[in-house]
Amino acid sequence: MGKTALITGVTGQDGSFLAEFLLEKGYDVHGTIRRSSVDFRERIAHLEGKPNFHLHYSDMTDSMSLVALIGRVRPDEIYNLAAQSHVQVSFDSPEYTADVDAVGVLRVLEAVRQCGLESTCRIYQASTSELYGKVEEVPQNENTPFHPYSPYAVAKQYGFWIVKEYREAYNMFCCSGILFNHESERRGETFVTRKITLAASRIRHGKQDKLYLGNLSSLRDWGYARDYVECMWMILQHEKPEDFVIATGEQHSVREFCQLAFHYVGIELEWQGEGADEKGIDKATGRVLVEVSPDFYRPTDVVNLWGDPSKAKRVLGWNPQKTTFDQLVKIMVQHDMAKVAVENAGDAIRINLAEYLEKGIVK
Ligand code: NAP
Ligand code: GDD
Repeated sequence: MGKTALITGVTGQDGSFLAEFLLEKGYDVHGTIRRSSVDFRERIAHLEGKPNFHLHYSDMTDSMSLVALIGRVRPDEIYNLAAQSHVQVSFDSPEYTADVDAVGVLRVLEAVRQCGLESTCRIYQASTSELYGKVEEVPQNENTPFHPYSPYAVAKQYGFWIVKEYREAYNMFCCSGILFNHESERRGETFVTRKITLAASRIRHGKQDKLYLGNLSSLRDWGYARDYVECMWMILQHEKPEDFVIATGEQHSVREFCQLAFHYVGIELEWQGEGADEKGIDKATGRVLVEVSPDFYRPTDVVNLWGDPSKAKRVLGWNPQKTTFDQLVKIMVQHDMAKVAVENAGDAIRINLAEYLEKGIVK
């Protein structure tokens, strides 16, 4: 008999990659989705209909839905990925973020206990490098002190500690992966990397004039999401429950990411000015393509994330450099150049259709 896994947040970037990964390993995969007025299942559309892939409505704010689901599915492994995952949004919706990202974790742990699965079900919690926040050392490892620096990070801090508490109090196999930023062609469009690769592609195709960003000097350790979901699985296959830092061990600025993304669409940028006056200029034409907008500044910003993945490498045998920074940017740009080309073709068809309707050809 294959194992059964439950993924909360299966419609997200990581959830979709993890579902693919577990299906390939022969798992029976169950995922949670939320009701919304527009059905947004783009990332998992290719998995729907597979016999081992099952979707269930549930919400992290609704403990009864979690208890009922976990009791019905009786998973061997739970990957708790569901979260309000946008740091900037957490300043606007701090209470909701705490409900989902902090208390939501407790709801999953308690549901497992109430269903009598505490000694059989292994639980992975999607923790984050944002816990290091206003960093107290670089690079950061499993022993670096936490200093969360946003409502999102404070909520995730609760999640981290409640997982540790249940591990020690009830001897449950539950652990946190402290994941540094990981990106992909499926990344949400308001995270900085995807915002950049989409904008560079649209600018290249003449569909956008300029890209506005916040802090260009912010530093991140960016990896490829497809590589990171493998590590989530490895953490649950380890002989004992432990927390791991997952990162590439390499750091780049938002400015560098931007430079490389534009390079891959065929535009070389040069930077002029400083702070809010800094601009990214097309060397060939002199056009200003990137500007800073204070709208994207955060009340408190985390600016120096750099992970040390030595433990995951040594203990789990995980390869943190499977996809390089350069390859990651290229994958995302290639995807978004193709996406914009398809959008352009769609626009042309819609324009024709509008003409047809106007001329009364189609009624
Ligand atoms: P994501 O793309 O934003 O996906 C989040 C998922 O959570 C989506 O499926 C979303 O559903 C679901 N969700 C949100 N609120 C929910 C609620 N109230 N009830 C049930 N489901 C809810 O995030 P991601 O990048 O895949 O990240 C996955 C997890 O890893 C998150 O917990 C995130 O905080 C954490 N993390 C991410 C990174 C990173 O760099 N990507 C790094 C460290 C930690 P909808 O599709 O309906 O919105
Ligand atoms: N989103 C965004 N938009 N960020 C910008 C922009 C912009 O226009 N301009 C500069 N930035 C800076 C932010 O201030 C931040 O310092 C950095 O780019 C990265 O921002 P995001 O891509 O939004 O990601 P994040 O690091 O805040 O959060 C992501 O990674 C965390 C792990 O460290 C999310 O995936 C979190 O869920 C995850 O926990």
